[in-house]
Amino acid sequence: MGSKLGVSSRALQAGAETAFLILGKAKELEAQGKSIIHLEIGEPDFDTPSYIKEAAIKALSKGETHYTPTPGIPELRKAIAERTMQDFNVEVDWKDISLTVGAKEAIFVSLATIVEEGDEVIYPNPGYPAYEAGIRFFGGTPKPLMLKEENEFRMTSEEVNSLVSSKTKAIIINSPENPTGSVLSKDDIRGVVEIAKSKGIYVISDEIYKYIIYDGLKHHSPIQFDSSMQNTIIIDGFSKSYAMTGWRLGYIISPKHLTQPMQKILNLITSCPSSFSQFAALEALRGGLGSVKNMVEQYTTRRKALIEEVSQVEDISMVKPKGAFYGFINVKNITRKTNLDSSKLASILLENYGVAVLHGTAMGSNGEGYLRVSFANSIENIREGIRRMGNAFKELTSKKA
Ligand SMILES: Cc1ncc(COP(=O)(O)O)c(C=O)c1O
Repeated sequence: MGSKLGVSSRALQAGAETAFLILGKAKELEAQGKSIIHLEIGEPDFDTPSYIKEAAIKALSKGETHYTPTPGIPELRKAIAERTMQDFNVEVDWKDISLTVGAKEAIFVSLATIVEEGDEVIYPNPGYPAYEAGIRFFGGTPKPLMLKEENEFRMTSEEVNSLVSSKTKAIIINSPENPTGSVLSKDDIRGVVEIAKSKGIYVISDEIYKYIIYDGLKHHSPIQFDSSMQNTIIIDGFSKSYAMTGWRLGYIISPKHLTQPMQKILNLITSCPSSFSQFAALEALRGGLGSVKNMVEQYTTRRKALIEEVSQVEDISMVKPKGAFYGFINVKNITRKTNLDSSKLASILLENYGVAVLHGTAMGSNGEGYLRVSFANSIENIREGIRRMGNAFKELTSKKA
């Protein structure tokens, strides 16, 4: 009899987020005594604001250390509904808000709830890798929308329309976008919602970076154009805005007909998110947007430093990021001159020059020729990291010349 001790094909084929693998490698090199500048991982370097931490400590002291209802504590769900009202002037039923273990679980559960074998899901490429991996995991067919640098990496509704077929189940949008920093305009978003409404498909809108936006731009959400909330699934969370990545708290706002099925799956996977993280998040919302604004001010200065440094390096360029905290650096001249792809370049940068960045293809095939750097880091590290990159490129291109 053949052995049954194998791994399922679903597990074997599952995609993972490469940034964590690079972080692991960079930490190994650091442990060997190498100096590494970390520009690879997408997380705020700020500490979680102290009033939020204190709320968690208080919750722990009060004995809030048990299971909560699967979709989270009602106070927090109501506070999210209130904030949604303030942000978009749209009323959502707090009962359709479900807390999750990070926005990542929110993406996974949303796809688990709607994707059938063979369904097509449109998503941005380059884009957050959990989209493509999640679509595949549930037997769907990923339909990448190739973002173009000449469109500043925006996903236009014309492009979306051209990919919609009778098999399309959903369109995933992410504004501000990881990794390109692109921000969709109000019209872009309205256009996508119109397509979704006319074809009877979902829009999954990942708004995890919604407050991290620059140059006076305003974030828009499909929720503004779908007030009946039939088509729109909102993914959001506390990780980025409040520097709470380790607290693992995200949420979904779902169409009413999806709420129960989603909560059934959440129940199955995690039962509920961490209780004291939820009390901390409640305080984060009650505390207003002061701490977020402070962080965004600092990201703005850091973005400026990144733009300055990139402009000093020959043969590379970068579209000015309009939101999130990533620069997506075009290194196509370097890959061409050195005959190295972006993944190999990123390895050389890490191993020989002590700067950890993410190769563009970690964010999808269309990321070839780019490197993603996070500017959620100190100005000194950003400057030093890009200088190391510049030295590397000078040496690598002169070797080949
Ligand atoms: C676009 C996007 N969505 C979701 C997430 C996941 O966030 P969380 O840490 O809350 O799971 C990330 C994290 O990098 C992200 O960039």
